[in-house]
Amino acid sequence: MKNNGTEKAAESCNSKNRFTCIFDEKEITARIGAVAAQINADYAGKNLVAVCVLKGAFMFFSDLVKQLVMEPELDFVRVSSYCGQTESSRAVTITKDLEVNVQGKHVLLVEDIVDTGHTIAFLTNHLQARGACDVRVAALVDKTERREVPVKAAYVALNLPEGFIVGYGLDYKEKYRELPGIYLVDLDA
Ligand code: IMP
Ligand code: MG
Repeated sequence: MKNNGTEKAAESCNSKNRFTCIFDEKEITARIGAVAAQINADYAGKNLVAVCVLKGAFMFFSDLVKQLVMEPELDFVRVSSYCGQTESSRAVTITKDLEVNVQGKHVLLVEDIVDTGHTIAFLTNHLQARGACDVRVAALVDKTERREVPVKAAYVALNLPEGFIVGYGLDYKEKYRELPGIYLVDLDA
């Protein structure tokens, strides 16, 4: 059976020449399997709270947690970020906070993309202030070359030096999140 999402992106690609598939479903699945195995090994016998950073990480979170064996508690946060005067003065605010008590627990923040690093730096501080004993980040995509604050994701499924991507949860103006693969978008096309 043909995949509607892939077809749709391919259609956009043909008509507008905007989308290039850079990670297909098969590669994403394989990389998430490897990340899940690492997480299972590192958190064996520990209390883990896995926190999905909405909205972009929803698909990654769903595929990742299905493979976790330590029976993690699951929770969701949502943030919005506003650019200040300069690129690096980014203000991040919480629009949907945690509901699970993370006091004394290990927390795994599951993020779609770590880009400048502001979001993850903010959320890590927030979780530590709530008493988490350890906070690590699992990122679907790491854009290391764009870092403005020195944060590191402990678990990374895919690396991307530069470019704007959509699909597999990632959006451009709230569209294309449903696509099963990840596509590089030529925003000027
Ligand atoms: P930062 O690390 O604080 O800069 O924030 C990263 C956030 O910016 C991610 O969680 C995404 O929501 C968004 N973002 C960064 N790069 C992209 C992209 O290429 N496509 C879609 N969203 C992106
Ligand atoms: Mg995000």
